[in-house]
Amino acid sequence: MKDNNNNSRRKFIKIAAAGSAAIGLVQVSNVFGSQISAEEQISYKEKKAPASRGKSVMGLRCEPLKTVRIGLIGLGMRGSGSLGRLLQVDGTEIIAIADVVPKAVKDANKQITDAGLKPAIEYTGDEDWKKICERDDIDLIYQCTPWLLHTTIAVYAMKHGKHAACEVPSAVTLDECWDLVNTAEETQRHFMMLENCCYDFFELNTLNMARNGVFGDIHYAEGAYIHDLRWLKFLKEGGYHDMWRLEFSKKHTGDPYPTHGLGPVAQIMGINRGDRFDYLSSISTNQFSMSLYAQEKFGVNSPEAIQAYKLGDMNTTIIHSLKGKTIMIQHDTSSPRPYSRIHRISGTKGMAVKYPEEQIALEPNAHEFLKKEDFEALMKKYEHPLATQMGEKAKKVGGHGGMDFIMDYRLIYCLRKGLPLDQDVYDAAAWCSIGPLSEKSVLSRGNSVDVPDFTRGAWENAAPWPIVTIE
Ligand SMILES: NC(=O)c1ccc[n+]([C@@H]2O[C@H](COP(=O)([O-])OP(=O)(O)OC[C@H]3O[C@@H](n4cnc5c(N)ncnc54)[C@H](O)[C@@H]3O)[C@@H](O)[C@H]2O)c1
Repeated sequence: MKDNNNNSRRKFIKIAAAGSAAIGLVQVSNVFGSQISAEEQISYKEKKAPASRGKSVMGLRCEPLKTVRIGLIGLGMRGSGSLGRLLQVDGTEIIAIADVVPKAVKDANKQITDAGLKPAIEYTGDEDWKKICERDDIDLIYQCTPWLLHTTIAVYAMKHGKHAACEVPSAVTLDECWDLVNTAEETQRHFMMLENCCYDFFELNTLNMARNGVFGDIHYAEGAYIHDLRWLKFLKEGGYHDMWRLEFSKKHTGDPYPTHGLGPVAQIMGINRGDRFDYLSSISTNQFSMSLYAQEKFGVNSPEAIQAYKLGDMNTTIIHSLKGKTIMIQHDTSSPRPYSRIHRISGTKGMAVKYPEEQIALEPNAHEFLKKEDFEALMKKYEHPLATQMGEKAKKVGGHGGMDFIMDYRLIYCLRKGLPLDQDVYDAAAWCSIGPLSEKSVLSRGNSVDVPDFTRGAWENAAPWPIVTIE
């Protein structure tokens, strides 16, 4: 990734260092802090929005589809599970499936025929996803491929008249974020990033409470992806295809996977709908734990142990919204710790937190968490309609405890009814932009970086995501 800002900072540091004998050490240390020039702060190229090629897709409604005919691309660990769920959603038909691993395609078709359905058309070539996108009997391209393919496939799909749904993160550079936005606007097709954590039960519940004013005005939230994935990243057989996640960890720092913690709190706080991300600062620890793991597993002189990994163990990013609210997002896939997405929301009347234990504290006694029976009564009172209507089935079908099924069901439901989707391309772009922007901030000692307005102003009049239902 190019870093023009770093170049100009390096020049600035050189000049300041040259003058350090005269100006003294105190001023030199400022070079790394507040003395970064205002010009430099606004010189990030991402501040400028590219010209729009179409009209806004905020609230986009498309022609209702009787049956959603799907092309499913990427049938690995995630995609095979997604297929199992999609087969159980009313009104779907899997027309075509693709993976570069022929066995994955065969196994997927067995899943389809075992469910008593007609086999899908199989594709196994490296670029066969293009052929699927070009077919005229498909409405939705649903992909679970490695990160670097996401935007390319989604853009191609939309350009061929398809709606596109894509695993997280849907974009890994700022340019990709804009490509998704511009293509959705140009083609007037839906793009949805499959941020399943927005549909988890506690997240839906706290969204409902937030919309009903239980926490007052919410001005602060925390989210995270803390999940020790070292064993899986270093797994040579049966893990990530071509070890793509390890490869990314070699080349990038910051928070490469921000959306699981961010999506639910961004929706609760009305990001892109009444408020928007303005700027962020991000810092990372050095990388310690991947090397240690590699030394212990493969030996101190192994290529894995000698290899440099850019990804810091713990990344902390703080995002400031235009309306003065903040969100802290953490990423750590390397430290030996229990799983957490935190999901803490804090308002003028109380707070809620999900990990390590679901708890709520409310005024007039917000110094203490609610007692178990009061907590349960509140949860029952504000159970989200999606949980009431389909929670039981979702838990049976599964997928991270049911949230994946609720997500898929709502996606297909909205397409069949011609409704706007729960997450749109602006959400995907804003949430994914935290990846490259956090990296940029980390590489410039935590200096703040602007977050573009992907909605090009539409956030001001858009209503926050409502409490949705199914019939
Ligand atoms: N939302 C969640 O909870 C969740 C959970 C796990 C993974 N994911 C996301 O799902 C995506 C896939 O992750 P995974 O764990 O399944 O990885 P994976 O490596 O198991 O699966 C990726 C699949 O894509 C296939 N593939 C690679 N190149 C291809 C090409 N050119 N054409 C067709 N197929 C191709 C691979 O063969 C592999 O089967 C990632 O974006 C990941 O972040 C999300």
